[in-house]
Amino acid sequence: MTKSGSADPVLLVENLTVRFQAPVVEVIAVDHASFGVFPGEVVGVLGESGSGKTTLGSAILGLLPPGGSITGGSIRFAGRELNGLNERELQAIRGAAISTIFQEPRIALNPVMRVGVQVAEVIRAHRAWNSSKCRDEALAMLTEVRLDAEKIYDAFPHELSGGQCQRVAIAQALACRPQVVIADEPTSSLDTTVQADILTLLSELKERRHIAFLLITHNPAILAKFADRILVMHSGKIVEQGLATEVLGRPSHPYTKSLLNSRGQMVHSARASS
Ligand SMILES: Nc1ncnc2c1ncn2[C@@H]1O[C@H](COP(=O)(O)OP(=O)(O)OP(=O)(O)O)[C@@H](O)[C@H]1O
Ligand SMILES: [Mg+2]
Repeated sequence: MTKSGSADPVLLVENLTVRFQAPVVEVIAVDHASFGVFPGEVVGVLGESGSGKTTLGSAILGLLPPGGSITGGSIRFAGRELNGLNERELQAIRGAAISTIFQEPRIALNPVMRVGVQVAEVIRAHRAWNSSKCRDEALAMLTEVRLDAEKIYDAFPHELSGGQCQRVAIAQALACRPQVVIADEPTSSLDTTVQADILTLLSELKERRHIAFLLITHNPAILAKFADRILVMHSGKIVEQGLATEVLGRPSHPYTKSLLNSRGQMVHSARASS
């Protein structure tokens, strides 16, 4: 049981292995990864650049780049096996039951489309609703991410700040009421004060909607504040996992220790201010 009181993980990954075919060497980007994510919890994925964090998230979303493939293991979402589903079946799940927030909101948004319409389009793709209902729902989502919805709806991305763009991207990700959201470095393109606002917003949304987050970051200070549990990745392997307080406070794997030592000051200051 978790603090959420739920016995069943909404996402259960077992022995997941992802390889990239390269001309010279084959890369094992994710190596027999196993973990569960329970409803309403934030699971942090921590590791250095190249450790396999993004590949793990992309594999769960069925969005591996060319050359990458799942070569073993399983990904069960709400009891259903995702590994092996065809693209049409994955599209029905992606953006709806499992959605994602990317690092760079301006790249994630279409520069020539009004942002409100972009949120409404996600809703229309997954719901059999007329356009006025999709618009109303998009306005409600924009309000929920604390934007002035009526004002923002007709704006283009270049008219908004980076933080506002990320709020729009969050509204898109949450528009179809996902059970799991994969957020890959969702704040690393933003300046520090905006980062804290966005992470606080994600935390509120998690509580209100009982969403499970997989929060991917190389920054332990973020996880000290926002993660319930942490997976530590190194060379594609999950070398340690446990409660955030345990992993950050009493790391058991030498890699986690060295990772935290190199960033020790930041973790300490994040805890002190929380
Ligand atoms: N499109 C690709 N083609 C070939 N190899 C890739 C590709 N994407 C990732 N890899 C390799 O897979 C491994 C894991 O990369 P990944 O991008 O998942 O790491 P990461 O932990 O997200 O790093 P970062 O913190 O820099 O975002 C690395 O060895 C990387 O070189
Ligand atoms: Mg990455």
